[in-house]
Amino acid sequence: MKAITAIFIMSISLYACGSRHIPMPTKTYGAEATGNGRVLVAYATRAGSTIDIADSIAFGISQQGYCVDLVHINSIDNLIDYSAIVIGSAIRMGNVTPEVKRFVKINKEILQTKPTAYFIACLTLHEDTPENRAKVKDYLIPLREMVTPFAEGYFAGKMDYSKLKGFDKFVAKRMVKAPEGDFRDWGKIREWAFDLRP
Ligand SMILES: Cc1cc2nc3c(=O)[nH]c(=O)nc-3n(C[C@H](O)[C@H](O)[C@H](O)COP(=O)(O)O)c2cc1C
Repeated sequence: MKAITAIFIMSISLYACGSRHIPMPTKTYGAEATGNGRVLVAYATRAGSTIDIADSIAFGISQQGYCVDLVHINSIDNLIDYSAIVIGSAIRMGNVTPEVKRFVKINKEILQTKPTAYFIACLTLHEDTPENRAKVKDYLIPLREMVTPFAEGYFAGKMDYSKLKGFDKFVAKRMVKAPEGDFRDWGKIREWAFDLRP
């Protein structure tokens, strides 16, 4: 009986845990491309808006003749095959996500030998002013200190308060004072991706 109860509790917790996470798509663009090498676009998200930004960047890079893998940061097991790496993160309370920090820390040595770029999705940039740009540049300090990137992208993200609860909602509304809306500028994102020359 005890064993059955334990299995039941484990199943409920696994279900609850799994259901809190966004599905992690893995896509490959430009699979037919040969010669230019393979590029990894790795992302970390909380509410999902960074996935579409990463997707648009992966597609943009593939338009330059690269084969590009789009992968959630927690699903990457090998960097050897990539000739360049782009890492993107959602911003929470002035920080990139812990999984992105951990990934860069663990893979520091290999990332230092390959062209690496960073991008972030945040709400400070819903107004693209010099002050806000200076502020969001600082979000990348911890990553920059570990691995110097060849490019950095700062993008406005999305805020949907109906999808937030409890502490997150309180922080976003009262502390970050993030406005509600989708501020992603697809033209700017595509332009950045297209200008990357990994
Ligand atoms: C709890 C919380 C904290 C946030 N903190 C910041 C912040 O410090 N600076 C900022 O510019 N944006 C902040 N944002 C806005 C997010 O970075 C923005 O909504 C982004 O698009 C989220 O990406 P995601 O949808 O991939 O999780 C915060 C959002 C939430 C919900």
